[in-house]
Amino acid sequence: MASPADTGKRRITVLGTGYLGTAHAACLASLGFEVLGVDVSAARIAALSRGELPFHEPGLGSLLRTGLASGRLSFSTSYPYAAAFGDVHFVCVGTPQRAGCYAADLSQLTGCIDALGPLLNRPCLVAGKSTVPVGTAADLAARLARLSPAGPACELAWNPEFLREGHAVADTLRPDRIVAGVPSARAEAILRGVYADPIRAGAPFLATDLATAELVKVAANAFLATKISFINAMAEVCEAAHADVMMLSEALGHDPRIGRAALRPGLGFGGGCLPKDIRAFMARAGELGVEPAVSFLREVDDINLRRRARMVDLARELAGGSFAGRNIGVLGVAFKPGSDDIRDSPALDVAATIHGLGASVRLFDPVAMSQARRAHPELSFADSAIEAVTGADVTLLLTEWQEFREADPEKLGAAVARRNIVDGRNALDAGRWRAAGWHYRALGRPLGHAGK
Ligand code: UDX
Repeated sequence: MASPADTGKRRITVLGTGYLGTAHAACLASLGFEVLGVDVSAARIAALSRGELPFHEPGLGSLLRTGLASGRLSFSTSYPYAAAFGDVHFVCVGTPQRAGCYAADLSQLTGCIDALGPLLNRPCLVAGKSTVPVGTAADLAARLARLSPAGPACELAWNPEFLREGHAVADTLRPDRIVAGVPSARAEAILRGVYADPIRAGAPFLATDLATAELVKVAANAFLATKISFINAMAEVCEAAHADVMMLSEALGHDPRIGRAALRPGLGFGGGCLPKDIRAFMARAGELGVEPAVSFLREVDDINLRRRARMVDLARELAGGSFAGRNIGVLGVAFKPGSDDIRDSPALDVAATIHGLGASVRLFDPVAMSQARRAHPELSFADSAIEAVTGADVTLLLTEWQEFREADPEKLGAAVARRNIVDGRNALDAGRWRAAGWHYRALGRPLGHAGK
């Protein structure tokens, strides 16, 4: 493999090694760049340097180890080293919801620019990838201009990332689109160079101003959240009208103007992105004086949270009207399958609520157990799906892992105390479970024959 100097490829740093940063770093190394991943957490950098992924992400562990072995990928906690190393610095630090309000907490971002800026004494590009309220990039550009000894030779661009957890490698290597908010033709040319491979493979490259690039990401997540809440609102109507939201969703999805994606009804959205992003969007719109333009997102959020309450109600109904003294077996803890992320997980929220209402709750998840244990030591955890449902009065499917989709209703039926199941993700074949004697209920779907 030719070295970056031979190929004219620039050296890249990735600042912040969460899901986004680690995927970005490993994928760029696989494309032939020399990449340095940087994080303030020494433990995380040590783990990554050993080739250990600190979270679950299919395909990323092997890409990490291949990158390390090739010598093109390395990790460090040193900002001076990063500043000396990189021609392009991608900023991938977290922008979580601020405690006590809707707005985004930008302290990791400003901390990163404040640490890096004064060390930048040669031409380079700082490209933000984190999801931020519109206007942040312009503020950071001004901050960087004040701090950087290289002055105007050190520019700031905004290049939002659209990857989904569980698909991080494919989404990074084969993005739907590349959006680049750029202050100059030089910045655009640098980013086109970094993404030369995906562009050659057909990914559209959209060069915009900074504000539009920031907004594309926030608007995309707001649209996805709205679509999910739309179908979940229809599920509420279906429950009242004895209609079937699964058939409704399928029929709507065939309309190419609507499409099937993000139209799966169930327990709703969670994770580290959609919930906090729509809230930060509302907060920012308020600051900009256009609060009514996105006030519908309040409803989107409320619909989403009502699904969790409905799930608890259905579980209580099947438990005989009260959780006191009942055993509840929970399948799934992660916010979605393919990930061990439990940030704002609807599954964990429902399980903790039911525990708080007096039930004995036992959970199992194929990958998110240690995270869940740390966050909710009061809950009880099983080593397998069968163990989680053993003796259960009600079984809840809350994250649609493949192994739960494929679960044998007879085998699980032999373990439970009562064959009651609520399918929170509309992932099971209702007919099959009912045929095996289960009282099957799902969000947005009618009762079966004889009230089952
Ligand atoms: C999302 C965006 O998809 C991605 O583009 C952005 O970069 C980050 O936020 P992610 O949070 O990884 O990605 O998950 P996604 O697959 O979008 O699912 C989000 C949540 O919505 C999950 O809890 C999922 O279970 C739920 N969901 C998704 C539904 O309830 N129904 C659907 O039809 C789709």
